[in-house]
Amino acid sequence: MRRTVGAEEGDKEEEEAEAQYHSKDFEWEELRAEVENDPSFCQHLLPFQPTSTSSSSSPQAQSDSDAWKRFHIRHSAGKFFKERRYLLKEFPELASCNENSKVLEVGCGNGSTVLPLLRGNENIIVYACDCSTETVERVKEIIDASNIISIKQRFHPFYCDLSINRFPTWLACNQCRDIYLQSQHKSISDVTMNNIMDSNNLYLLRESGCCNGGVDFITLIFTLSAIPLQTMPVSIKECFSVLKPGGLLLFRDYGLYDMTMLRFELEKRVGFREYMRSDGTRSYFFCLDTVRDLFVGAGFTELELEYCCIKSVNRRNGKSMRRVWVHGKFQKPL
Ligand SMILES: C[S@@+](CC[C@H](N)C(=O)[O-])C[C@H]1O[C@@H](n2cnc3c(N)ncnc32)[C@H](O)[C@@H]1O
Repeated sequence: MRRTVGAEEGDKEEEEAEAQYHSKDFEWEELRAEVENDPSFCQHLLPFQPTSTSSSSSPQAQSDSDAWKRFHIRHSAGKFFKERRYLLKEFPELASCNENSKVLEVGCGNGSTVLPLLRGNENIIVYACDCSTETVERVKEIIDASNIISIKQRFHPFYCDLSINRFPTWLACNQCRDIYLQSQHKSISDVTMNNIMDSNNLYLLRESGCCNGGVDFITLIFTLSAIPLQTMPVSIKECFSVLKPGGLLLFRDYGLYDMTMLRFELEKRVGFREYMRSDGTRSYFFCLDTVRDLFVGAGFTELELEYCCIKSVNRRNGKSMRRVWVHGKFQKPL
């Protein structure tokens, strides 16, 4: 399937890549064969041997978030990541969803994903969190200044560090999460009766103003790769718990053998397929099996999962770059 995408989602150094592409400029299997047969890349492919100084062996979550906080302070103009104009083409259900559908954007940064969402669908309500209070303040200013219709009622940014916190209970309280979870664990014969009871319970809870009742969509766009691999399962489970049954998790992130992975110096390796940039922010490069294991392991059903392979040209030096991203769409079972 061909899609238009923006290459500005690239790594920080690749801001100047061309703007519009489709998703299959080359076959990922060909790239894989090339990389795996090239001796100059062999060190990237070896199992990772932690050393005593290796940062993956220490409690990482806090220092990972601190690195992002420093990153956002350094880029406080909020122009580092560009608006993802392709988002609604990539995930058309964000444009066609019901009025007042709720979206949670996790790791919102300066609003590259939030802006096209709010602009592209004026009936959508967007909750957005980040582990940096600075960027939560900044994204609010950016969105407030954007002249988008009824923005005050439709945009709700908040602080949350997903690798150490749960989402706030005003978003989905424990009782609502439990009811959502119970409805997943029923035997078929119980389903109809229990669904009626659950709808009644939910209706009563909602009437009592328990919470916002969870969300219809979660966007995880270049955020999961920033979280340590060993923390990812808990973070995804947390996403699962605030999503309404039938809700969708929309995923896009760095893919295995993306050019930026192969350009990392070996001392930046902090785990298998996991690297840390000089500023302390980390990046994991996903293969489809890892993404599948993570999301299906948390209870999701896979709807779409593929590599997007884009050839782009760096305008500064004319060099061609092979970018690989993973596109995924997962559903919480009804
Ligand atoms: C590469 S940016 C992507 C931003 C945005 N999703 C987009 O579409 O451009 C990653 C974002 O995730 C945030 N982040 C990193 N770790 C996080 C965590 N543990 N919890 C919440 N946000 C996190 C960072 O502060 C940063 O804003």
